[in-house]
Amino acid sequence: IDRYAVFGSPIKHSKSPRIHKLFAEQTQQVMEYGTELVAAEQFATAVKEFFANGGRGLNCTVPLKELAWAYADLRTERAELAKAVNTLALQDDGRILGDNTDGIGLVIDLQNNHGIVLRQKQVLILGAGGASRGIILPIMEQAPQSITIANRTVAKALTLAGDFSHKLKINACGYGDLKGHSFDLILNATSASLSDELPPLSPGLLAERGSCYDLAYANKATAFVSWAREQQASKSLDGLGMLVEQAAEAFYLWRGIRPATAPVIEMLEAERS
Ligand code: ATR
Repeated sequence: IDRYAVFGSPIKHSKSPRIHKLFAEQTQQVMEYGTELVAAEQFATAVKEFFANGGRGLNCTVPLKELAWAYADLRTERAELAKAVNTLALQDDGRILGDNTDGIGLVIDLQNNHGIVLRQKQVLILGAGGASRGIILPIMEQAPQSITIANRTVAKALTLAGDFSHKLKINACGYGDLKGHSFDLILNATSASLSDELPPLSPGLLAERGSCYDLAYANKATAFVSWAREQQASKSLDGLGMLVEQAAEAFYLWRGIRPATAPVIEMLEAERS
């Protein structure tokens, strides 16, 4: 049987096994998908062992995405620029391909599931860490009018913007510099949500009929989703749909079949409350 798994630490609460099991049933793929608690120090050994024992593909999550990037024998362009890999796939020639499906998962959730089109929009990304880096190229490819990265540590925003400047000019600034500006779409890619915190966002930041999206997700509204509702955002979304869509892209890379995501998202939504 073809084996797949997600590696990470912590890993117990990962929804990936559920999601991939539903995809496999739906598309009648004979495969198994497990979880393995893997710390950074064990990563290379664990991956080698997995692929030596019939493993076909892996998802890697916190804190392993940068290590997975370094491990891969070859990488897609979006993974290359993300400097992080969430999906490893065994190739016919035995090499390991590294991809990053987070950004395309976000774009598909925004555009296909929620009707939020990026073309010609003014997009603000909060945060300049790994999560931000992972989504920039797929967002750029949708031809927004502008992309702005705001971060607490301005130097990190400038560096990140610089890494993509051969593709498109990105504005980089601190939160204080946002005063007086407004955006059609605000994406929260900070890790602030995880500790129920919020970056210092000024009022008026969200344009009329603008939407907000938190890359993190939780059973209850994140601090950013609550803020978005207070701003009367047209849509105040969290990253549950992105989670399912990035999994669907990984599944497609491994199996060559695109599963329907709507029933899976619906099921996970129903389990929230
Ligand atoms: P990830 O891989 O999740 O992006 P990371 O690389 O550690 O994690 O980046 C975390 C991001 O969240 C950073 O942009 C960080 O801002 P700094 O670079 O200034 O540290 C941001 N962040 C975390 N907690 C925050 C908070 N309470 N308010 C604002 N930004 C926060």
